[in-house]
Amino acid sequence: MTQTLTIRRPDDWHLHLRDGAMLNAVLPHSAAHFARAIIMPNLVPPVVTAAQAGAYRDRILAARPAGSDFEPLMTLYLTEDTDPDDVAQAHASGLIKAVKLYPAGATTNSASGVANFDKVRAVLDKMADIGLPLCVHGEVTDSDVDIFDREAVFIDRVLDPIRKSTPGLRVVMEHITTKDAVDYARAQDDSLGATITTHHLVINRNHILAGGIKPHYYCLPVAKRETHRLALRAAATSGEARFFLGTDSAPHTDANKLLPCGCAGCFTAPNTMAILAQVFDEDSALARLEGFTSLHGPAFYRLPVNNGTLTLQKTPCTYPPQIDTPDGPVTVFDPGFAVQWSVA
Ligand code: NCD
Ligand code: ZN
Repeated sequence: MTQTLTIRRPDDWHLHLRDGAMLNAVLPHSAAHFARAIIMPNLVPPVVTAAQAGAYRDRILAARPAGSDFEPLMTLYLTEDTDPDDVAQAHASGLIKAVKLYPAGATTNSASGVANFDKVRAVLDKMADIGLPLCVHGEVTDSDVDIFDREAVFIDRVLDPIRKSTPGLRVVMEHITTKDAVDYARAQDDSLGATITTHHLVINRNHILAGGIKPHYYCLPVAKRETHRLALRAAATSGEARFFLGTDSAPHTDANKLLPCGCAGCFTAPNTMAILAQVFDEDSALARLEGFTSLHGPAFYRLPVNNGTLTLQKTPCTYPPQIDTPDGPVTVFDPGFAVQWSVA
């Protein structure tokens, strides 16, 4: 008899849907498995105001496949000019569920991010007052800091000072990639959550660099050494409520990945749930998959858990190596092993 696992419908607490033709091409892959997702605001230009977030939400709703009830949870991109009252109104109306902090220059389309943290103090204080979470891309961008150390240095130099100077601010450390981040998260109270991607549970830096460079494994924060991957895997499968899924599925066309200066991002939406089932199964933690994908995130965001369920079964998963989009093919994340679980 085929082994099956039925869990509450999952949510993705960090997702890039893009816009236009790419949005239409990638959204069905998330909507097929996930009920809701926190939508990243790093469009060009970024989603900075409530009005822009409302318009982007409408475009996402219009791009849903027929019959889909997928719910985009919108975010605002924090800049040094962000108006605290615009943020508070967008939160009060239910439009936004978080504000996103990108250190200026940290990643794809982050040029408008924050360089001087004193300039966003009033926004952070307002967010602490109203309980609105700050989602943090946790990497410093100083050219003298090694790219593999940028997350750990960010925790010391930026994150911890922000948390100490803004008591009560609710923070999500996004797409954590290091044991340092796992350890930091574990030492905090429940005002701090941390998301973990699917790909960081599977790859380490050798996958990117050993035996030839593999641009499709290049994402930010960049995958670290194996000890860090194992720490992430232990955290994700631990059942601890502070850790939850944020896939950071980040589609780029192959043309934009396979360049002398290629884009960062792994497109994992189509096979994320199948890969996670396999990862949790390998670690004898299938009973804790539902917490990671469907329970801990809503608890942190103070949202109800989803109605409905998703059933996974232990049968080989088939997915295309690429999806076609009007902008060109987008390669689907290859975990490097045959995936033995699939969504029923
Ligand atoms: C993301 C993207 O392409 O927008 N890329 C990535 O490698 N994760 C940006 C981000 O979340 O860092
Ligand atoms: Zn991202």
